[in-house]
Amino acid sequence: MKLNVISVQDFGESLEDIIDSAQRLKKGALKGSDPLKGKTLAMIFEKASTRTRVSFEVAMTQLGGHSIFLSPKDIQIGRGETISDTAKVLSRMVDCIVYRAFKHDMMLELANSATVPVISALDDLEHPCQAVADLLTIKEQKGKFKGLKLAYVGDGSNVCNSLMLGSAMVGMDFAAACPKGYEPDANLIKQSMKIAKRKGCSVKVVEDPSDAARKADILYTDTWVSMGVEDETMERERVFKPYQLNSDLLKKAKKDCMVLHCLPAHRGLEITDEVMDGPQSFIFDQSENRLHTEKAILLTLIH
Ligand code: CP
Ligand code: NVA
Repeated sequence: MKLNVISVQDFGESLEDIIDSAQRLKKGALKGSDPLKGKTLAMIFEKASTRTRVSFEVAMTQLGGHSIFLSPKDIQIGRGETISDTAKVLSRMVDCIVYRAFKHDMMLELANSATVPVISALDDLEHPCQAVADLLTIKEQKGKFKGLKLAYVGDGSNVCNSLMLGSAMVGMDFAAACPKGYEPDANLIKQSMKIAKRKGCSVKVVEDPSDAARKADILYTDTWVSMGVEDETMERERVFKPYQLNSDLLKKAKKDCMVLHCLPAHRGLEITDEVMDGPQSFIFDQSENRLHTEKAILLTLIH
């Protein structure tokens, strides 16, 4: 059976193994060998990307394979060919498809029609590969997950949804502070709580950022205006103002609390320069870790 990575849940019990494998790859494992020689990755991006696109392309190069970047405006999708037919055609030629989609339904349609593994490069519901890099960054700094508390402040976005699921899967306490109406996906909250119960940790969604930040080992935020909701910018900037990750909020967390952000950041909005460039920020390690985790994911899916 082919594997897809559409949700963090698709990693199942292998999630921690993938994180460990990424850590070994970062330290140089497989350097100089070409485990994906002759393999091709197709990458369809409906939205902009710096980290995800570059990390997958570089990962394929360093593993000896090849990648093809396909912008919808350059391929026949832009002229009306269905995503499902595109998936069937690509499956006859490439070994894996990475897809960044506006809509989760489109992601499912592509995954259902493709006969090769499909990896989500983000959609409006989840960003599973980001969560793996986030967890690797935490493991590197703290050496464990159990007994830690991650506090997410801001928009209950795709990034927040995947991080919530991922935290529960590795047994780490998770608290999100979001304004009313901007909470993580209700169904994924339920699923995360179920997983957390099994793993002996907790998942909470609150409204007050100080509440979430109290005793946190990790403080995390994402943009207030995700790709696709730009027409809500003014309203969102008003609603999210009290949710800024700044030094006042950081003081409420543990002394050795680390700061993460998936990037791109909007400095002065969801995070201040002072925090982003401060000693507690591991944000650029986190972005580098996209490369090591994409490698571990590709090696798991492509044979
Ligand atoms: N964090 C992340 O996915 O960044 P890009 O949008 O640049 O890929
Ligand atoms: N929530 C953001 C993440 C970008 C990596 C977005 O969807 O635009």
